Amino acid sequence: MKLSKRLACIAGMVSKNSILADIGCDHGLLPISLIQQGVISKAYACDINPRPLQRAEEAITQANCCGTISTILSDGLQQVPSDADCIVIAGMGFETIRNILENGIDRLYDCQEIIVQPNTDVREMRSWISAHRFLLMRDQVIQDGHFYHILKFSARTGDVLTEDELLFGKNQDSADFLAYCMYERHKTEEILDQLSPSHDHYKKFLYYKEKLLEKTEKMDYEHE
Ligand SMILES: C[S@@+](CC[C@H](N)C(=O)[O-])C[C@H]1O[C@@H](n2cnc3c(N)ncnc32)[C@H](O)[C@@H]1O
Repeated sequence: MKLSKRLACIAGMVSKNSILADIGCDHGLLPISLIQQGVISKAYACDINPRPLQRAEEAITQANCCGTISTILSDGLQQVPSDADCIVIAGMGFETIRNILENGIDRLYDCQEIIVQPNTDVREMRSWISAHRFLLMRDQVIQDGHFYHILKFSARTGDVLTEDELLFGKNQDSADFLAYCMYERHKTEEILDQLSPSHDHYKKFLYYKEKLLEKTEKMDYEHE
């Protein structure tokens, strides 16, 4: 089973021998691929809606994974069995992911890792992780048509993130990260061109542009 670059990056963050709960599994491709690769031997494919769950069930049957992947109709983490120790919540807006995490917050302490891929507001996602003093373990941006941010954290105690880390994550220096910063820089320059300096958000965008200039110049230099 060939995964998209986005799903392959998520799969690459799942630790070997985890018991995975894929929340909002939709097509079910992630657990199927992880079982086929031998990374995990058991998974729960969960979704709040019966139709995607049925789609996942069909894919699981076709892939001969019925003995290793169970489908569960579940709003967020509510029906997730207690032995799941790796939670993936991908391809949803930040607010949906935050609601799922907050409604099942006690459950997070039993997990060794939580992997999130919010389609919106990645800064807010990092800020949520930091405010809970959770440990941000990996933070990667990948270009797969759009730019996607994939964050892995655990409920162990971590440091409060700095403003720079909230905006750009920790230790990112990949080619996709440079492409992302260049994209954000052009977008921010266009916004600033159209904003009056007296606008409420002008300073915020100016600050962001300066940070992006710093990142892109520093990385251009390092990649030379
Ligand atoms: C766009 S799909 C993402 C599928 C897959 N995770 C991926 O990244 O490719 C979002 C899925 O999340 C499900 N979903 C939305 N809110 C949910 C919730 N509270 N609990 C479980 N599933 C949810 C939707 O039914 C849908 O199937």
